[in-house]
Amino acid sequence: MNILGIETSCDETSAAVVAGGVVCSNVVQGQVECHAEYGGVVPELASRAHIRHISAVVSAALHQSNRTAQQLDGIAVTVGPGLIGGLLVGLTVAKGMALALAKPLIGIHHMEGHLMSPFLRTQDEPIPDCDFPFVALLVSGGHTLLLHAERFGLYHLLGQTRDDAAGEAFDKGARMLGLAYPGGPAIAALAQGGDPQAVRFPRAWLERDRFDFSFSGLKTALRTHLLTHPLAAEESQVHRDVAASYQEALVEVLVVKALAACRAVGCQRLLVAGGVGANQRLRTVLAQRAGQIQVWVPPLSLCTDNGAMIALAGWHRLLLGQRSDWSLNVRPRWPVAELYA
Ligand code: KG4
Ligand code: ZN
Repeated sequence: MNILGIETSCDETSAAVVAGGVVCSNVVQGQVECHAEYGGVVPELASRAHIRHISAVVSAALHQSNRTAQQLDGIAVTVGPGLIGGLLVGLTVAKGMALALAKPLIGIHHMEGHLMSPFLRTQDEPIPDCDFPFVALLVSGGHTLLLHAERFGLYHLLGQTRDDAAGEAFDKGARMLGLAYPGGPAIAALAQGGDPQAVRFPRAWLERDRFDFSFSGLKTALRTHLLTHPLAAEESQVHRDVAASYQEALVEVLVVKALAACRAVGCQRLLVAGGVGANQRLRTVLAQRAGQIQVWVPPLSLCTDNGAMIALAGWHRLLLGQRSDWSLNVRPRWPVAELYA
């Protein structure tokens, strides 16, 4: 079955065609240049950029997959959670196509899409060695959560951020350090050659038996540190040390909580997805501390928001006999606990 997946919940306009787990095309149009001067995603600008790009992105996804629209067997679209304007752009296009082509339409939860990322592969790659159950650490600019995925459609929320998302903490920290948006890659680059132990930034462990996160104290600690220790020169050793120490505090909390969550639910597999999953230090520390736990980090193009993961979730749901009707609407807030297979 050829499924078109459309993703517009945040700041990536993406469409993909997936057949089984094979990615036939995956077109992603980012918006960094729209949001860079504001240091974070501006919802209204994001909606407008989705409107500008969506037609070309869907056409390119079909073209690159060597499929025509008539050859599609279904259309999957992210309906939440996310920014309402962007979600409406994706849903409107998906509904219009499904109606015009007389194809099944299925609305997908964005996080269920992320959970599909390790199962995707290219035509030449072998079937990935992954299966349910697993714990997922989903870390991006918009979300930070730990889920226990028992099987397709059965997900338990283990913890989530009480304030900033991990990517947001990178982005805001980067601004304070005088770095460009997006802040994660900028901090990671500056941190190379820095001493991660130079400044002891706080780690918010919260309750030991819960897996919630909080990054606002860390952000404040960086602000206070910079007031008392102004940076002499950009890209100086001190600058590198502060970036490395800030990154270390973020990474350590993510790693310790994710591995503790795996042990708490008795699960030996951990998926890391979302833009922050690209962080090399996160990958290194996870590898050092994982022990028996098998860690999957999909390639960057599948870690960040993309249409392929939405298409694969759609395929699974269509196989279960589900489809959405024309009353399908967006759900900007959609608790993962309300999902079912
Ligand atoms: O998943 P994503 O591309 O988009 C959404 O937020 O939905 O994630 C973007 C976030 C940004 O906050 C960015 O700073 C962060 O991921 N990020 C990183 C790295 N690359 C991207 N954070 C840390 N290290 C990186 N290498
Ligand atoms: Zn996402």
